[in-house]
Amino acid sequence: MTATTSIHGMWSTRLAFILAASGSAVGLGNIWRFPYTAGEYGGGAFVLVYVLCVALIGLPIMMAEIMLGRRGRRSPINTMRELARAEGRSPAWQLLGWLGILSGFLILSFYSVIAGWTMAYVFRAASGMFTGIDATASEDLFAALVGDAERLLAWHTIFMVLVVLVVARGVAGGLEKAVRVLMPALLVLLIVMVGYGMQTGSFDAAVAYLFAPDFGEFRGKAGEAILNAMGQAFFSLSLGMGAIMIYGSYLKRDSSIAQNTMLVAGLDTLVAILAGLAIFPIVFANGLAPDSGPGLIFQTLPIAFGEMTAGALFGMLFFVLLLFAAWTSAISLLEPLVAWLVENLNLSRVRASILGGLSVWLLGIACLLSLNLWSDVKIFDKGFLDLFDYLTANILLPLGGILIAVFAGWLLSRSSSVDELQMGEGLGFRIWWILIRYLAPIAVGVVMLNAVGLFEL
Ligand code: PHE
Repeated sequence: MTATTSIHGMWSTRLAFILAASGSAVGLGNIWRFPYTAGEYGGGAFVLVYVLCVALIGLPIMMAEIMLGRRGRRSPINTMRELARAEGRSPAWQLLGWLGILSGFLILSFYSVIAGWTMAYVFRAASGMFTGIDATASEDLFAALVGDAERLLAWHTIFMVLVVLVVARGVAGGLEKAVRVLMPALLVLLIVMVGYGMQTGSFDAAVAYLFAPDFGEFRGKAGEAILNAMGQAFFSLSLGMGAIMIYGSYLKRDSSIAQNTMLVAGLDTLVAILAGLAIFPIVFANGLAPDSGPGLIFQTLPIAFGEMTAGALFGMLFFVLLLFAAWTSAISLLEPLVAWLVENLNLSRVRASILGGLSVWLLGIACLLSLNLWSDVKIFDKGFLDLFDYLTANILLPLGGILIAVFAGWLLSRSSSVDELQMGEGLGFRIWWILIRYLAPIAVGVVMLNAVGLFEL
């Protein structure tokens, strides 16, 4: 039954898939979310747990997700329905696809708002606003943006238009080419920033902060810290919502899933660590608080750009590249929904993209208002943006991950996995088999149950 191509198109080469999948993985999650989340949980211990989660949970689940996508060759909902049918399992498995649509929808609604901050900062950097700025001025500048609902709405709207434009043309179109240049450029610029950090005098403190685990930092909130590290791994690797699944559905049969996965996850982790090494020296050199939350990179980086030679240029470049990284992630968040609209409602790709984009845009307005006019509206003590962020990364994506692991490890026949992964049945396969059947679902389940307080670790 396995189709060899998808009706939505195919990646032209193996490299195209790697670029697209790392384009999806590398984004605001690495550069905006990773440093501030690590900062909230004290640094080193969080980073260690994060890396373990990537290696032991993220890698096997990413392989499984790509594998399911490539076997189903449809949008995640229809892929799960088809695979369940072919393996004689309950049609209810398509709910996994629906869960993913919901997650993607919620993530993109706030992701677009943060991408909007990035756009605003491109112009702020270019206009030389950061020259000689100190920590307080930088914090004020950030607060002025976040407090201005109209400006946030304008940027959010522009970003969503950009996302819809690309998705409407099909993901294998122009973006493949853009990513080829922009991803390496982002990496180079991050390294420049790390180089700058080395000169601040606080580089050693930053290294110690990130790499010397001090579990005392978890101070009575270990369960929550571990949940957040795991959630960050899912978020950063784009796992558990069907983005990687649908990208897998455009992947040709002759490409090695295991190798591709390791490359993408390795690159994603490298970018996150570099972002940490770029940002924390500035945090410490300027007496800022590592746990200052989602504004962290927007409050710290301008200080560095304001001090360095050609800082306006570097600053502008940095935020442009971050914008592109966010863009290539955002299209993968919308793609599963659009593919489903095309398959099931017979909409043209253009109409499906506009419809999907418009609904995400509406929900995004609630997110941006939660930062200012609606700052009093709290659900579970969180505004909409924080709530969607927490709910998706820490609950919905890991839930999607468990279901993927259970389906791939227990319900898909072993021979189907062997056939699709094409890595034989040697050591590599057996390690994956153990991780996907036992370790990944149990670990994710334990972390989640522990965090809701069902029991104490
Ligand atoms: N991985 C992306 C990032 O790090 C975000 C994302 C999450 C994209 C889930 C797709 C799916 O920014």
